[in-house]
Amino acid sequence: MAESMQGLKRSHRCTEVTTAMVGEKVTVMGWVAKQRNKGGIVFVDLRDRSGILQIIFEDTKSGTECFEKAAKLRSEFVIAVEGTVEKREGAVNPNLATGEIEIIATSLRILSEAQTPPFPIEENSKTKEEIRLKYRYLDLRRPDLQRNLILKSQVATIARSFMAEQGFLEIETPMLCKSTPEGARDYLVPSRVHPGTFYALPQSPQIFKQLLMCSGYDRYFQIARCFRDEDLRADRQPEFTQMDMELSFVDVDDVIDVNERLLQKIFKDVLDIDIELPIQRMTWQEAMDRYGSDKPDLRFDIELKDITEVVKNSEFVVFKNAIENGGTVRGINAVGQGAMPRKKIDALVEFAKTYGAKGLAYIAINEDNTFKSSFAKFMTDEEMAAIIEAMDGKAGDLLLFAADKNKVVWDTLGALRCHLADMMGLLDKNVFRFVWITEFPLLEWSEEQNRFTAMHHPFTMPMEEDLQFIDTDPGKVRAKAYDIVLNGNEIGGGSVRIHQDDIQEKMFECLGFTKEQAYERFGFLLDAFKYGVPPHAGLAYGLDRLAMLMAKQDSIRDVIAFPKIKDASCLMTNAPDVVDDVQLEELCIKLDTKNEEE
Ligand code: AMO
Ligand code: AMP
Repeated sequence: MAESMQGLKRSHRCTEVTTAMVGEKVTVMGWVAKQRNKGGIVFVDLRDRSGILQIIFEDTKSGTECFEKAAKLRSEFVIAVEGTVEKREGAVNPNLATGEIEIIATSLRILSEAQTPPFPIEENSKTKEEIRLKYRYLDLRRPDLQRNLILKSQVATIARSFMAEQGFLEIETPMLCKSTPEGARDYLVPSRVHPGTFYALPQSPQIFKQLLMCSGYDRYFQIARCFRDEDLRADRQPEFTQMDMELSFVDVDDVIDVNERLLQKIFKDVLDIDIELPIQRMTWQEAMDRYGSDKPDLRFDIELKDITEVVKNSEFVVFKNAIENGGTVRGINAVGQGAMPRKKIDALVEFAKTYGAKGLAYIAINEDNTFKSSFAKFMTDEEMAAIIEAMDGKAGDLLLFAADKNKVVWDTLGALRCHLADMMGLLDKNVFRFVWITEFPLLEWSEEQNRFTAMHHPFTMPMEEDLQFIDTDPGKVRAKAYDIVLNGNEIGGGSVRIHQDDIQEKMFECLGFTKEQAYERFGFLLDAFKYGVPPHAGLAYGLDRLAMLMAKQDSIRDVIAFPKIKDASCLMTNAPDVVDDVQLEELCIKLDTKNEEE
C-alpha cells in the first residue's frame, strides 16, 4: 500500500547530502535504483535528479519493521527515508558525489510501488531508441537524459538573465499565425469560426519581431517554439525551440557583439569553458572554397583545393566534361590515408554518390612515392605530377577528387572531409570551434521553381556595395546575413533587415512576386513600414542544437523531453492520430484519404 507525505518534509536532494554532514539527521526521497539484500543488511541506491545516495537498513539500527519493509523494496519504488549521515564503513565509491558517505535509515515510507520497467533505467542505455521513446517517461529518468535537460534549462536561464541585463524585453508572439516566409512547409490549424481557412503555426517569430521593432520596443528576446514540416534528420525536429532576438538601430557588428558575449557567458557558466573573443569570421565564399560547406567544421584541417586550372587540358572525360559544363574539379588530401584498402575507398565513392557526385577519382600515394590511381591511365605523367603537387600530396597520402557543377563538388567534398575526419578520429566533442559565416548570397537559383529564392528570407538586406548588380546580375548580390556555426553545425542565423520600401520592392521583384502578390502575403508588414521603421537586425539560435553540442550528444532528440521520430510521429502518445467525426464536422472538413491508403 502506498503511503502519503503527511508530516514528512524532504530535507535534501540525494547529492546535497555531503561528507560535512556526518552525524546529522536527513530526510531524502526518490526512486530505488538498486536494492541488494545481504542477509542482516539491505543496501539501497536512492536516485533523484541530483544523483545517487546509498542508504543502509540494518536490523539492529533501523528497527525490525523498517528493515523488513526495506527487504521488500524493488527497483523504481518511490520511497522516503529518514536517517543519519555516516561515513561509509565499506569501500568508498570514487565515482559517486556521495561516495564517502551513506545514510543509516531509521524510518522508511513506500510512497509508490512500481512494476518492473520494460528496460533498465541506466546510463548509456543499450535499449533500442524506439522502446525508450515509447516509455519516454521512464527513459527520462536516466541520469544522462536528466543531465541533458538540466543543461538545456541552465542555458535558457542564463540567456534570459543576460538578455535582460542587455536591455532586451521578453515578449510573446502568436502561435496561430498567417504563414511565415521561412521556406519550409507549414503546419496548418483549421479554423472552426471561419470554415475553410487555416492558421499556420509559426516557423519562427520573424515577422512579429520585426513589427515589434516598428512599434519601438528596441530590443526583443524570446525563447520561442517553432514548427516546420520538413524531412527530419538527427539535427532537426518538426517542433523546436529558438532563442530569438531582434535589435533596433544596429548593424551587423552590433548583433555579432552582443551574441559573442552571450555565447561566452553561456559556455563559461554552464561548462566552465572560456571562449576567446572575437570569434573568427569567414565569408560564405571562403567557407565554400576551403571547406565546401557554409557550416564548416574547423576542428580539423582537411581543406578543398581547386585543381580546375591544373587539369583543364587533360583528356580525362570526367574532368573535361565537368569543366566544359561550367563546373570545376576539386580535391581533398586525406593525409596519411594512402594505404587505405580498396574496399574502403570504394565505400568512400559510394558515400560521395549519396551527395549527387557521379563518382570520386583518387590517387593513393605509396610510401615509395609511386601511386595507385583510378584515372592515371587517362593522364600524362606530367599531369599527374602537377595534380599531386597542387594537392600538396606526400608519400602515404590519399587524394580524392570530384568533378561536377560547383554545388555538387562542394556538397560532396564538404561531406567527405567530415566523414574522413570521423574515420580518422579527429572529431573531438570536447573541442568547441565557433565561426561566423558572413556575406551569404542574397538569392539562390532554384532549378525546380525556375526563379531566384531568398537564401535567408525576403526581408534580408543586400550589402550596399552590391545593390548595383541587383538588376543585371542578382545572383552576385551578397546579403547582410550571418550564421553562427559550431563544430560544423549551424546553431544560429540572422540578418540585417530591409527597412526601405524601394529595396523591399526590388527584392520581391527579384523573387518573382508581383506587387499584388507581395501585398497579399506580407501587406501588414509593408504597411507597417510606411509609418516609421528603425533600421533593425536580429538572430535566432536553435536552442536544441546548441544544447545537443554542449551536452556532447549526436542527436537533437537527446536534449528534447518528448521528441518526434523520423516520420514526425510521437511513439508515446501516438500523435498524430485520427479525430472524431464530430470534430471534423465542426471544422467543415471532409477527408479524402482513399488515394493515400491505396
Ligand atoms: P533559421 O531558419 O536559420 O532563421 O533558424 C534559426 C536556427 O534554428 C535552428 N533550426 C532548427 N532546429 C531544430 N530543428 C529544426 N527543424 C530547425 N530549423 C532551424 C537552427 C537555425 O540556425 N527567423 C530567422 C532568424 C533571424 O533571421 O533572426 C530564422 O528562423 O539552429
Ligand atoms: P570511369 O572511367 O567512369 O570508371 O571513371 C574513372 C574514375 O573517375 C572512377 O574512379 C570514378 O569513380 C571517377 N569518377 C567518375 N565520375 C566522377 C566525377 N564526376 N568526379 C570525380 N570522379 C569521377
